[in-house]
Amino acid sequence: MSRRDQLLDNINAFLEYKKEEGFQTLEISPETRAKLKPVATQKPEPAPKPAAAKPAAGTPALRGAPTAGSDVRVTGKTLAEIAKQISTCSACGLHASRNKTVPGEGNPNSPDILFIGEGPGADEDAQGRPFAGEPGQLLTKMIGAMGYTREQVFITNIVKCRAPGNRVPLPEEISVCSAYLRAQIALIKPKIIVVLGKHAIEALLNKPVAITRFRGTWCTYEGIDLMPTFHPGYLLKSPGKKRETWADMQAVLAKLGKTPPKAG
Ligand code: URA
Repeated sequence: MSRRDQLLDNINAFLEYKKEEGFQTLEISPETRAKLKPVATQKPEPAPKPAAAKPAAGTPALRGAPTAGSDVRVTGKTLAEIAKQISTCSACGLHASRNKTVPGEGNPNSPDILFIGEGPGADEDAQGRPFAGEPGQLLTKMIGAMGYTREQVFITNIVKCRAPGNRVPLPEEISVCSAYLRAQIALIKPKIIVVLGKHAIEALLNKPVAITRFRGTWCTYEGIDLMPTFHPGYLLKSPGKKRETWADMQAVLAKLGKTPPKAG
């Protein structure tokens, strides 16, 4: 895919996300309009050469993966070693603007649930911890309502570095970072994966999804049951969707043979 097509894809994904958040219009300043004009009239670049490597048979590719530049070789044999490798990674452009890498945290020993979000935001980038901001507080509450603590589950993201301005990570960034996520999942061996939000779901399942219809549908990733649901950031803006998210979490608990603790 050319750089221009990638940009258009990214803009489309961003607009879809905003639409799902309930935005009907988007204000574009005259300065931004002026900047966009030359891009819109640029000639498309020639398509890049086909990908060099292919994922192993039966392994779903992360969205956009693999590309010629996606050859991160994970050398770490433990989660700590992988986190160390991530901390010095410069395999994609995100390294240039990050403050801290955010490899993930929690129970590494086959936890009942692995939560996967899209990527670090400003709070996570400052602290080096996943879901450390306001959406994270809601996620922590959800985890608590399910009868767990954050330490009993594992929490990570599709990409481990913040994308500037919290934009959606580009396909090549997802592709490059996918090696780390794969290696983490193989070591953690979660019983169930819960994927949070449209972009994380699309990246993991490598297909476009309409989240409002797709959430709550059991899928698998590398043989592990996977439940797609809304992102806590989205729930903060659309609290009416919490009910459906809770239904998804109850389905997860039922699969694990658990019932949520009584509230209060
Ligand atoms: N949103 C995400 O998807 N991940 C985080 O870690 C924080 C916010």
